[in-house]
Amino acid sequence: MCGIIGYLGNKNCLNVIIDGLERLEYRGYDSAGIAYNKDGKVEIIKEKGKIANLKSKLDFKIESNLGIGHTRWATHGQPNNINSHPHKVGKITIVHNGIIENYVELKKELEELGYKFKSDTDTEVACALLDHIYSETNSMEQTMAIFKDKAKGAYALGILCDDHMHHLYAVKKDSPLIIAIGDKEKYIASDVPAILKYTNKYIILDDGEFAKLNPEKVIVYDNNIEIIKKEIHTFEGNASSMDKNGYEHYMLKEINEEAEVIKATTLPYIEDGIDSLIKNIPNLTRFNKIEIIACGSAMHAGLIGKTLIEEYANIPVNVELASEYRYKKLFLDKKSLVIVISQSGETADTLAALKIAKAHGAYTLGIINVVGSSIARYSDHVLYTKAGSEIAVATTKAYSTQVAMLGLIALNLAYHNKTMTKDEINEVISEIRKLPTNIQSVLNEQLEYRKIAKKLYKHNDIFFIGRNVDYALAMEGSLKLKEISYINSQGYAAGELKHGTISLIDKGTPVFAIVTEKAIADKTISNIKECKARGADITFIVSEDLDVKDDFYNQKIVIPTNHKTIQSVLTVIPLQLIAYEIAKLRKCDIDKPKNLAKSVTVE
Ligand code: AGP
Ligand code: GLU
Repeated sequence: MCGIIGYLGNKNCLNVIIDGLERLEYRGYDSAGIAYNKDGKVEIIKEKGKIANLKSKLDFKIESNLGIGHTRWATHGQPNNINSHPHKVGKITIVHNGIIENYVELKKELEELGYKFKSDTDTEVACALLDHIYSETNSMEQTMAIFKDKAKGAYALGILCDDHMHHLYAVKKDSPLIIAIGDKEKYIASDVPAILKYTNKYIILDDGEFAKLNPEKVIVYDNNIEIIKKEIHTFEGNASSMDKNGYEHYMLKEINEEAEVIKATTLPYIEDGIDSLIKNIPNLTRFNKIEIIACGSAMHAGLIGKTLIEEYANIPVNVELASEYRYKKLFLDKKSLVIVISQSGETADTLAALKIAKAHGAYTLGIINVVGSSIARYSDHVLYTKAGSEIAVATTKAYSTQVAMLGLIALNLAYHNKTMTKDEINEVISEIRKLPTNIQSVLNEQLEYRKIAKKLYKHNDIFFIGRNVDYALAMEGSLKLKEISYINSQGYAAGELKHGTISLIDKGTPVFAIVTEKAIADKTISNIKECKARGADITFIVSEDLDVKDDFYNQKIVIPTNHKTIQSVLTVIPLQLIAYEIAKLRKCDIDKPKNLAKSVTVE
C-alpha cells in the first residue's frame, strides 16, 4: 500500500529515491513519481504503472540533492499520470500515503479561494490546503501545525516548499513514516528496509508530530510547535536480509525461514522452561473477556488462538475482523483484553479497531512483527514475533510465528488458571523445542507438493475443508492460494459443506481436507467421503498419528505430529508451498500479486 521516500544530503537523490521505491514495491502500487530540486526549481516526473516506466523518463545524470518519491495505491482517482504523486500546488509539493477523509469539503473551500484542481485525488486537495496555509503564515512549521487541525483522516506526507529548498518536511497521522539518520544526509520512508542500505538509525514520528529536516539535523515538533526530543532507534537486521538469498521468490525464501523464525520467536518463552513462559508473558487472567482483532491471515491465526485459549485456558474468546469491529457496538471495559495481531503493525483497520478498543477502556496486547510500528506503539503491551522482515505480500513465516505466539499465550493462561499442570506444560515445551526439526522435515517434502500442484493448477475452483483448528487452517490455505494464483477458492467448515456448498462439488473438483485432531478426525473423514462420493479430487492432509490407508483420498500429505497448541505451524506449510507451486505454474507475480499490498494502510 503505497511507498514514500524522501532524501536530502550529498548523494544524487534520483538514485536514492528510485532505489528506495524499488525496495518498497512489495507494498503494492499502480503508479510512481518523483519530485526533485533542479537549480532551485521543483521538477516532477510521474508515470502510471511500474517503477520501470518512471525510470525510463529520468535522466540520472541530473545532479540533485533534495527530492521526494512515491509509489501510489490509488484510493481516490484512477491510476493514471495526473492522479499519480507527487502533486504540486503553488509553492508546495507533496507525496501522500493515506486518505484525507474531509477532502470534498476542503476542495470546495479551496475552489472558493480560487484554487483549480487537475486531478481527482484527495492528495492534491491536501497539497492546495498546505499551500493556502503557507501563503497566509509564511511559516512551514505553522503550516504543518494548522494543516493537522484542518485535515481529517490518515496521512503520511513528504513535503517540499519552493521557498525552502534546503529542507524536507514530514508529517504523519495513522499512516507509517520514519525519518532515517545518515551522516550529513537524512531520509524519510514508509519503512526502514527502503533505506537500510544507507543507515539503520531511525526516528519514528508519532501521530500529530511533524519534522523539518536538513542534511545536518532533524527537528521534530509536537502539536504546539514545540521542539521535542525523539529516541533514535537502531533497526535489527541488515540490507542483505532484504535479499532473496538465491531463492526465486521472497515467498519461497520466507517459507524456508520458518524453522529459524519459529525458534527465534518461541525461545525467549521456553529457554528456562515454565519460568520463561511466566516471566516473559504478562499474567492476563484478570480479564473476564478476550477479543482477538485482526485482518486476513492474522485473523486466521486469531481463530486458532481462540480454539487454543478456550480449550487449554478455559476462557471464552471472540475473534473479529478489524474492518467490522471498528464499526460495531462494543461491549468492552477495563476487564476486557483485546489482542490485536498484525505483521506490519500498520494495517489501518486493525489500528483503528485498536484505538476504539482502548477508548472503551480495554487493555490491549499486540502480537506484532515490525518493531515500533503504529499498532505496536498504541498497544498497552507488545509480544513481538521474530519473523524478521517479510517482503512477499502473502504472509507465511509471520503468520506461523503469530500462531506459535498464540499457543504460548494459551499455555501461559492455562498455567495461571491452573487448567494445565506444570508437567503438562513442560511436555508441551519439550514439543515446541522439536518444532524447528519438524518444520524442516515438512519443508523437505516440497517436491511432493509440487507434484500435487502440477495435477491441480489448471482448476479454477478449489476448496479447503477442516474442523476446529483445521477449519481456520483451511481458511488460511484458501487465502494463500487465492492471493497469489488468482484461483477462486473457499475455506469451509467440513461439517457445513452439506448445507449448500457441496452443490459445487463435481467430478474432479479439488478439495484439500485437513485432519490433525484426534477427537474429531472421524467426523471430518465422513465429510471428506461425502465430497469423494460426488467425484471430488481429495488431497488429504493428516497428522502422522491419524494417518490411515484408505480410498477416500486421491493423494495424501502426512505431517509430523506435535502438540495441538503448535501443530498448526506444521500443517500450514504444505498449504503455503502448494499455493506457491500452483502460482508459479500459472506464471503469476508471486511476491507482488495484482491489486494487493503488503501493508493495507488505507481503509
Ligand atoms: C495475507 O497473506 C495477506 N497479506 C493479508 O491478509 C494480511 O494478512 C492482512 O492484510 C493483515 O496484515 P497485517 O498482519 O500486516 O496486519
Ligand atoms: N489517497 C491518495 C491517492 O489516492 C494516496 C493513496 C496512497 O496511499 O497511495 O492518491
